[in-house]
Amino acid sequence: MNTMEAQNKKTNILVLIHSDNGGTYELAQEIAKGIESDPNSKAVIKLVKESTNSKLKDLPVATVDELTSYDGIAFGSPVYFGNISTAMSEFLSKTVNLWSNHALEGMPATVFMSAGSGAGKELALQSFWNSLAVHGMVLVPNGIRGDEKIDKKVPQGNSVLGTTSLASLKDVKRPTESERYLAALQGKNFAKVASALKGTFSKKEISVKEEPSINTILKSKNIVLPQVPKPAGNYQPYVRTGNLVFINQVALKDGKILNPGKLGVNVDENQVKEATELTMLNVISVLNEAVDGDLNRVKRCVQLTGIFNTKDDYTKHADLMNIASNLTVEIFGEKGKHARATFGASSIPVNSSVEIQAVFEVEQ
Ligand SMILES: Cc1cc2nc3c(=O)[nH]c(=O)nc-3n(C[C@H](O)[C@H](O)[C@H](O)COP(=O)(O)O)c2cc1C
Repeated sequence: MNTMEAQNKKTNILVLIHSDNGGTYELAQEIAKGIESDPNSKAVIKLVKESTNSKLKDLPVATVDELTSYDGIAFGSPVYFGNISTAMSEFLSKTVNLWSNHALEGMPATVFMSAGSGAGKELALQSFWNSLAVHGMVLVPNGIRGDEKIDKKVPQGNSVLGTTSLASLKDVKRPTESERYLAALQGKNFAKVASALKGTFSKKEISVKEEPSINTILKSKNIVLPQVPKPAGNYQPYVRTGNLVFINQVALKDGKILNPGKLGVNVDENQVKEATELTMLNVISVLNEAVDGDLNRVKRCVQLTGIFNTKDDYTKHADLMNIASNLTVEIFGEKGKHARATFGASSIPVNSSVEIQAVFEVEQ
């Protein structure tokens, strides 16, 4: 048997998680260890969405398409208000196409969660089960497996539906040794069930069209957002009111104005275009801060206003502003299309050749 055949013979299990602070990831590692304690099973841990957390940022991100290719999925998430986390819920909401094609029916699933105090943890595990039951997945509980060996002197996250960790109880290091032990046992048992069910359900390839994340688009276009410029007066880099974010920027780079001056006097059109691109990147960098680093929460660019330091008889402001407009559409696609105003001014603060005012609509 060659390596490829050996891989295909193995029971391949996805450990699919969302984690904010790493607690769920720690449990996921124990689940994976338990799975791989069976030499014929292989575990891969993936995130439902990219993370900037240093513990998580190098983990691969799963696509909805790939779910049907596994022999079983162990789902992990933080407890959010007695429920699964928003990111896990968003990921599952993208599986409608798999659902209507019966694509996950008969595939085994198991769940684990990182909680704070543990308030509502069983409700949260149950809500995980609800979503997976709708898919017709075969839910594998823990029962009281391993309970006789856990340390009862401190509260533990044991639950019949799946392992949890009570991460905010700092009486001992969390996940506790017992919580880790239960997670590993859960993984081991899950591998046993997944191996037994391997080949009993069809692995349909269902293509689901997923929009690439804004961070992926930025990376693929080699666009690096500049540092958020510091305000030069008594104002905020942005103001959010309701769902709207208001931002104004000039061509500031590392504390200095790029290509300062008046078009046709000390700068030419190409230099103003370069300054316009930088100014728009400054705007997007501030916007990134306004949405806590998740530019996918931008619903649309509503309006851009470009002000250029030009002579009285200059008329081609639209060409200059297209640089900012094109960049916005390049990054945000349809959501980047906006209303626009451009005009010339006899001077602009700090001698910038351009100023951009922007209004974006963002998610709640
Ligand atoms: C919006 C939100 C709601 C939460 N709700 C609960 C809850 O109902 N019960 C609980 O025990 N912990 C709750 N927590 C705490 C998290 O479940 C806890 O911090 C968890 O360990 C985070 O997992 P992570 O380290 O993988 O990000 C909540 C946290 C957030 C951010």
